[in-house]
Amino acid sequence: MHIFLIVASLIPIFVSATTHQLIVGSFGTNFLYTLEFDDEALTLDLIYTTNTSISSSWIALSYDKKNLYGTGWGSSTPSFVSYALGGGTNIQYSTTLPLGGNCSSTTKPIFIVAETKKPYTVYGVPFGGSAGCGSVMSVDKNGALNQVIQNLTYLSTSGVHGMALNAENTFIYSADDSANSIWTHAVDPTSGELEFVSRLGGPSTGSDPRHVAIHPNGKYLYVLLEGSSQVALYSIDPSSGIPSYTNITYPLIPSSALASDYWADEVMLSASSKYLWATNRGRSNTTLGYISAFLLANDGSISKQLFLTETTNSGGSANAVATSDFSDEWVALTDSSVGFVQIWRLSGNGTVAKVVAQLNIHDGGCCANAVWYS
Ligand SMILES: *[C@@H]1O[C@H](CO)[C@@H](O)[C@H](O)[C@H]1NC(C)=O
Ligand SMILES: *[C@@H]1O[C@H](CO)[C@@H](O)[C@H](O)[C@H]1NC(C)=O
Ligand SMILES: *[C@@H]1O[C@H](CO)[C@@H](O)[C@H](O)[C@H]1NC(C)=O
Ligand SMILES: *[C@@H]1O[C@H](CO)[C@@H](O)[C@H](O)[C@H]1NC(C)=O
Ligand SMILES: *[C@@H]1O[C@H](CO)[C@@H](O)[C@H](O)[C@H]1NC(C)=O
Ligand SMILES: *[C@@H]1O[C@H](CO)[C@@H](O)[C@H](O)[C@H]1NC(C)=O
Repeated sequence: MHIFLIVASLIPIFVSATTHQLIVGSFGTNFLYTLEFDDEALTLDLIYTTNTSISSSWIALSYDKKNLYGTGWGSSTPSFVSYALGGGTNIQYSTTLPLGGNCSSTTKPIFIVAETKKPYTVYGVPFGGSAGCGSVMSVDKNGALNQVIQNLTYLSTSGVHGMALNAENTFIYSADDSANSIWTHAVDPTSGELEFVSRLGGPSTGSDPRHVAIHPNGKYLYVLLEGSSQVALYSIDPSSGIPSYTNITYPLIPSSALASDYWADEVMLSASSKYLWATNRGRSNTTLGYISAFLLANDGSISKQLFLTETTNSGGSANAVATSDFSDEWVALTDSSVGFVQIWRLSGNGTVAKVVAQLNIHDGGCCANAVWYS
């Protein structure tokens, strides 16, 4: 992505960066990896490895990219961690907060997300074992995790795997994989604390909502169904915030494949919200995963599924797609079955995507999810 300014001498001048940094988490090693992608040379390199005291299965940036929040996946007590970012290769540990509430000590923090508006409250949830808990965490003036200000209680059978805030930060949606539900909570604008609004069952038995994304206009919610390998479209009532199923789903496997051989992973909007990306993983390391993109209408409804393409590996526990925040052209994809990060490019006509760069990190822990730092 670059723009040429043609000056009198006809010498092109680059006015925007061609290199971008990504930070990548890990399931099994105490590292955060900083990668550099050159969108001109199409190279992807490991430029820095930060040692941490715990591995993070999920990482999320603060609105201003001055803080990185992570799950304490590798920790013996369920917890969430924050780092101050002085740059993509300057990652300084700040604080750790234990998961609050009455969940077993063996449940594992799985997801974390931060408000993009004041008071920049952070929400974290665990998965596995007794996992019907969630932590609402305040941040200090620098954005570091400060205190658990509310313990969320889902069902005793719950295991929320992903959450999404609407653009105004007035509602948050929780994808409850273990209890096949989608939760709506209203967000208190002053404290960031949550109030229960509704719980809907998934669209079918065993559909198992895993991750959710919401269009910036707030009219549509996209639900990634891990169990049925689908993306389901929900419309949102603007006043109550409650989603309702439109009866529209799209497959993340070909019609000849069995959903039981897969565990679908991630759904995420492109930078402009013109495209929605979704990924699927093979349960066996010899079953290839899938990556798909959808064209969205201006109102956020799905116009069509553009492609459903096999990934080059199963994805392991990952195959998490991470859209860049500066262009619709580039997405990152992480694999933990052998350990790599790829950059995929969406064709100019938006109908195909291809791998343009790959970085192997075969250390037995990499790669969980990626965030685009620049
Ligand atoms: C980071 O961890 C690696 C492997 O555990 C170790 O060899 C290295 O000395 C550590 N670096 C620092 C700066 O602590
Ligand atoms: C949350 O739960 C923890 C552990 O049970 C408890 O110590 C803490 O006081 C609770 N916090 C709030 C705000 O209720
Ligand atoms: C905490 O959970 C345990 C086991 O699930 C249950 O027996 C106990 O009553 C719960 N305590 C509270 C305060 O909810
Ligand atoms: C979805 O299908 C159900 C059952 O056929 C029907 O009652 C409902 O009105 C449909 N919803 C929409 C939004 O079309
Ligand atoms: C799948 O996993 C097995 C057992 O861990 C390993 O021996 C094999 O090399 C893996 N295959 C692939 C394609 O990753
Ligand atoms: C879209 O672009 C791709 C890659 O450049 C090309 O292979 C494909 O034929 C194009 N499709 C259409 C419908 O133009």
